[in-house]
Amino acid sequence: MIFKQLTEDIDSIIARDPAARSRLEVVLCYPGFHALLFYRLAHGVWRRHFRLLARFISHFAKIFTGVEIHPGAVIGRRMFIDHATGVVIGETTEIGDDVTLYQGVTLGGTSLHKGKRHPTIQNGVIVGAGAQVLGPLTVGAGARIGANAVVITDVAEGATMVGIPARVVLRKAEEVSDVFCAYGTPEGLADPVARTITGLRSQVSQLLDRVDELERRLEATEEERHLLQAQVRACVSQDGFRRTASGGSRE
Ligand SMILES: CC(C)(COP(=O)(O)OP(=O)(O)OC[C@H]1O[C@@H](n2cnc3c(N)ncnc32)[C@H](O)[C@@H]1OP(=O)(O)O)[C@@H](O)C(=O)NCCC(=O)NCCS
Repeated sequence: MIFKQLTEDIDSIIARDPAARSRLEVVLCYPGFHALLFYRLAHGVWRRHFRLLARFISHFAKIFTGVEIHPGAVIGRRMFIDHATGVVIGETTEIGDDVTLYQGVTLGGTSLHKGKRHPTIQNGVIVGAGAQVLGPLTVGAGARIGANAVVITDVAEGATMVGIPARVVLRKAEEVSDVFCAYGTPEGLADPVARTITGLRSQVSQLLDRVDELERRLEATEEERHLLQAQVRACVSQDGFRRTASGGSRE
């Protein structure tokens, strides 16, 4: 079980870091990987209520790796902290699966109260170097936080946030596939102007489809109208014929 989890962690790092060449390299040279191992140990100890020992392990890990993860934080599978140094993860932080953090990230609190005061980071989120995510907010699955952004509000699923305070630059990265993109910047995507043109072209083609459909409906309605008119005319002439016929017989 532990071996499987370790292999999974290592392989996920190799998949997400173009610089990683082998499993051995990850085991020996990735402080983000070491930080995760220390966190798992500290978290296990924390859950068994040996709080001071857990804090001590986490403190030692910080000296060794430059990453401070509070042992009370809850972290999912395959988290990757690239370059690691300067990362701080607070006590009530919750992190889903396949989350990637770069150096200098803070998942921190903004108040002194003892309850939930740190962020919830959902699956597949990428947090760029130096970004600060502050308070008990939620960063939706697949969102990307730009380098040095300061996030102080909830982030929608798949959104891209940049700046201070962070604002949305891309609501849902539809053109971005589920496949992990290193540094949050999808490879193979054209430059922003080309992407805008591609977006406009797809909107135009959707509009053309819609116009076609409306024209078809209009034609169908016209046909129905003609049919109805013909039926009305037939009824009227039949009625006139009957009246004439009945008037004639009375005379
Ligand atoms: C935010 C990010 C994910 C966006 O990537 P993208 O989808 O390729 O977006 P673009 O480069 O097309 O940028 C979109 C807009 O956001 C702006 N922007 C991008 N990153 C920004 C950042 N970190 N801070 C402020 N603005 C940023 C761009 O200037 C552009 O603005 P415009 O539309 O007004 O021209 C990416 O820029 C980023 O910061 N990734 C983190 C990388 C990192 O931390 N690397 C560390 C490696 S060690």
